[in-house]
Amino acid sequence: MKGVILAGGLGTRLRPLTLVTNKHLLPVYHEPMIYYPIRCLINAGIDEILLVTGGQFAGDFLRLLRNGQELNVRHLAYAYQEGEGGIADALKLSEDFADGGKICVILGDNIIENNICRAAANFREQPSGAKLMLKEVSDPRRFGTARFEGDDPSGRIVEIIEKPDNPPSNYAVTGIYFYDFDVFEICQTLKPSKRNELEITDVNNAYIQRGDLTHEVLDGWWSDAGTFDSLHSASSLVAKGGANHAGH
Ligand code: DAU
Repeated sequence: MKGVILAGGLGTRLRPLTLVTNKHLLPVYHEPMIYYPIRCLINAGIDEILLVTGGQFAGDFLRLLRNGQELNVRHLAYAYQEGEGGIADALKLSEDFADGGKICVILGDNIIENNICRAAANFREQPSGAKLMLKEVSDPRRFGTARFEGDDPSGRIVEIIEKPDNPPSNYAVTGIYFYDFDVFEICQTLKPSKRNELEITDVNNAYIQRGDLTHEVLDGWWSDAGTFDSLHSASSLVAKGGANHAGH
């Protein structure tokens, strides 16, 4: 299974910092944000990685990461997203790289305490479809949020609602997704949302319609780092105990 890191977008919520650099190059405690999703994939044995980025600072990723060797990436590829068409728009650029196989997709601003080894192993065995990683949060309105059959988090997900006013549960869909190659067929059917983006939540709801979506709950803490509050809290969590622990 190959890995795809989505690190495009304008990072408008972190202006003025993102007027002079890409969001994913900002520091999370002692390291650039982009190191964390790379390590998350590497720890799960996924060492062929495509980094999708965009904007005027794209060249800085090459300066920082070069061929990825220092982070144990076996093969690091790059793709350039024109504009900010959404997460699913960025994902489309990985079709050739995926080459007919399964992929693990991680958003470039997602940082986890532990690892996704077990979920990756389970998805390798899953015959088809998709798998989502969820996390219970105190502020589900900020995220894609899952509605469960019978309101039971161990049961099937029946719908995902993007940034709901009335959250159907406290379980956020994190930015870590596993997909089979059908994801690219689904991406072709998407229409832009109210915020004029191709939404990853629409992709995930399409897998629900097909009856081919599984999920697991992440252990340890999870943080995105796309706002000043979450960037600060991610840095504090890393400072206290580190991230991407290999041990579970
Ligand atoms: O962090 C998890 C959440 O990420 C999910 O719960 C939501 O369902 C999902 O929509 C997403 O929400 P955000 O509003 O936080 O996404 P954001 O626009 O901040 O983009 C997250 C990352 O995706 C960003 O760090 C880089 C990548 N991205 C985003 C856009 C809009 C791209 O690569 N290209 C893009 O055009």
